[in-house]
Amino acid sequence: MSNTSGDQGNRHPRGSAGPHGADGAGGTAGLAGKRVLITGGTRGLGREIVRLLAGEGVRVATCARGEGDLRALRAALGGPEPDRLLTRALDLTEPERLEDFVAAAAKRFSGLDGVVACAGGSRGRGLEESGADDWAAAWELNVHHAVRLVRAAVPHLRAAGGGSVVLVSSISGWKPGPYAQYGTAKAAQIHLAASLARELGPDGIRVNAVSPGSMLIPGRRWDRMRREEPEAYAAFAAAELPAGEPVAPQEVARVVAFLLSDWSSGISGAHLPVDRAQNAPSPDGY
Ligand SMILES: NC(=O)c1ccc[n+]([C@@H]2O[C@H](COP(=O)([O-])OP(=O)(O)OC[C@H]3O[C@@H](n4cnc5c(N)ncnc54)[C@H](OP(=O)(O)O)[C@@H]3O)[C@@H](O)[C@H]2O)c1
Repeated sequence: MSNTSGDQGNRHPRGSAGPHGADGAGGTAGLAGKRVLITGGTRGLGREIVRLLAGEGVRVATCARGEGDLRALRAALGGPEPDRLLTRALDLTEPERLEDFVAAAAKRFSGLDGVVACAGGSRGRGLEESGADDWAAAWELNVHHAVRLVRAAVPHLRAAGGGSVVLVSSISGWKPGPYAQYGTAKAAQIHLAASLARELGPDGIRVNAVSPGSMLIPGRRWDRMRREEPEAYAAFAAAELPAGEPVAPQEVARVVAFLLSDWSSGISGAHLPVDRAQNAPSPDGY
């Protein structure tokens, strides 16, 4: 994580848990002053992560395609100083645009302490309705963007003496179900996090995957189903949600923030479901 001493060899930088236990220094959650880039920060989970981190004194960079949503985000955050929030409209599937943005964020903040690959989503539908382009698009948006993000960020994280990478996967990445192009891409993200954790561990870079359950996001799938098809939603909730309610994006954002913080310095290569036990096998089968 952030190392203001410039000691490149320090594996337990300021505010992190050293070999003799957690010291908790560096703010409520060891987050204040960190420099973090999050993809897809204008809606849903990404927006909650940006809001939470900005409120904790983190310098945040985020990107999405929609300039209007980026403007709305800046306004909602009270139009922070340029050295606290950097936004850029770009399409993550254009490699150079993402790489340029990582470089711009590191320049603006004089370094980076963490990145979150949050943008993602499904493309196409069932097996026979989806073509190679849907499979490629799902891979590009969920997996390849995360690979490019981490590759571009590594030199900056290394220069900071280490850092934290969080890949936002999904319950669909390990609980089989349609659509397969989404689930297999999300499964690949989980494997990617564990593999990169081993590869980048010697540089003090931690990599973890977080798998949200079905999040209740206003206007999105589960929220619409709850309002428009109450009987179907009740059946879904009875079969899938032991807690009766899906996980909230704010709850997932807190786990992401924890993984970015120094308080999680002992966690790397992990896969954390955040789903209120939605993953648990149900009486009707797995
Ligand atoms: N929603 C759920 O219930 C759920 C459950 C489990 C896991 N997840 C995972 O959680 C993550 C966030 O999901 P969400 O539902 O909160 O997302 P969302 O509401 O669909 O928001 C996605 C964000 O990513 C941006 N984005 C999408 N495609 C992009 C592209 N090509 N280039 C740049 N930005 C792009 C969007 O902005 P623009 O459209 O303006 O580009 C937006 O800011 C995803 O990885 C998803 O797979 C979601």
